[in-house]
Formats: sequence, C-alpha cells, structure tokens
Amino acid sequence: MPTLQTYPSVDSVAEAFVNHLIQSIPRADEPDLHVCLSGGSTPKRMFEILARDHRDQNWSNVHFYWGDERCVAPDDSESNFGVARDLFLVPCGVPEKNIHRVIGEIEPAQAARQYEAKLKEHVPMVNDVPQFDLMILGMGDDGHTASIFPHQMELIESERICEVATHPQSQQNRVTITGKVIRGAKQICFLVTGAAKAEVLSQILEQADNARRFPTSHFCFAGNVVFFLDQAAASNLPASK
Ligand code: 6PG
Repeated sequence: MPTLQTYPSVDSVAEAFVNHLIQSIPRADEPDLHVCLSGGSTPKRMFEILARDHRDQNWSNVHFYWGDERCVAPDDSESNFGVARDLFLVPCGVPEKNIHRVIGEIEPAQAARQYEAKLKEHVPMVNDVPQFDLMILGMGDDGHTASIFPHQMELIESERICEVATHPQSQQNRVTITGKVIRGAKQICFLVTGAAKAEVLSQILEQADNARRFPTSHFCFAGNVVFFLDQAAASNLPASK
C-alpha cells in the first residue's frame, strides 16, 4: 500500500511537499536530483510557495522535467512549462541548463521523439528507462495521471518512453511519459486535492471492483509511493470516516 499523508488544506499539502522537495536536494558532492513535474492546477500552489520561501535556494544540482505537456507554445496559458516558468523557475533562478521542457509548439509526434531523446540524454538510465529521483504526479477526476487517460490505457504498457496522447474531451494533443517511466522512478509523489477526486481516489486506494479502469490505479501500489492529500480528497477514505 502507498503512504498516505493527509493535510487540512491545499496550502498545507503544498507546503508539506515543498519541504519534502527541499529536503531531497542533494549536497554539492552528491549526484544531481532529477525531478519530473506534473501539470494542471495542483502544482501552482507548490510553485508559489517555492517562489515565496525558497528564492535563495541553490538549484544548480536539481534538474526539472515534465511528466506530460500540452502540445502548445510556452506562452499559451495551457502550457505546463509556461506555468512552472512564470511561477517558479524564473522567480527562483533555476539555471536554464537544468530545465528540460517538451517542445510543445512543434508537431506532436516529433515533440515526443525529441523529448524521449532529451530524457535519455539527461536522466540516468536503468534498464533502458530514464529513472527519475522524484516523480510528481497529479490525478484527474477521471483517474488519469500524467496524460494517460482511461480511453488510452495502452500508454501504460507502451514500449516507448514517451507517447502522444489526446485529451478525451478537448482532443488536445499531449506528450506524455509512459507507464514504464512512471514505475521506474525512485519515488512517486501523488499530489491530490479537492472533493471532486474523493470518490475515484477511494475506489483506487480501496481497490474496488473495476478500479483498474483508472490509470492512476496502475501506479499506486509499489513501495515507493506517497500520496499528499488534503482532507477534501481524502474524505471518502476509511481513516476519514
Ligand atoms: C496535466 C497534468 C494532469 C494533472 C491532472 C490533475 O497536464 O493536466 O499533468 O495529469 O496532474 O489532470 O490536474 P489538476 O491538478 O488541475 O486537478
């Protein structure tokens, strides 16, 4: 079972995770830290807290990547990179050389191939899979994670490192890492907040019948998984009742 850490609010979830990230930063004489960021809205508070409290942090041995990216330009409000750049990477002075974004503004299949090559170049490889030290994931109301949605479950077992995905409602093209990259991480941290996720989260964590239809359920039960939850998202879990 994963480790569940529940906090009163979105803010306290973000503060708790920021502390975890800061404590994970290696000393100068240790190997660099490779962090895979999630997208969507949940990480925004984390970025704001980093910019508020950790502007003086030395980020020279921390590298940032994305678990998925919308196929848009960096200045599009949908860009996961653009949000992180504006809220965190620029305010905290993260070196350009440590920022490894998906080139969302080019043709999706080409973006996926280029990003796959980038991951192979910069992230330590274990059994031909890039091994992130810290994998941050969100979960959608439909149980998706990264950009692996319930209508594209084949992306979980893809032989590739990156694939092109499509959002089920908007049909927006996305580049996503695949299941083997997620599973290969040293540590997976799910940040899940809000009442809208409570029902799906409880079905997944309680391994309800048919919960395997939710992509997130395929990444929860290894020994290196921690959920950072607010009380709203955890409200259907046994401990909360
Ligand atoms: C994305 C994300 C996606 C996200 C979930 C949760 O690009 O949208 O990577 O997997 O983490 O959809 O999104 P919220 O944090 O907005 O609820």
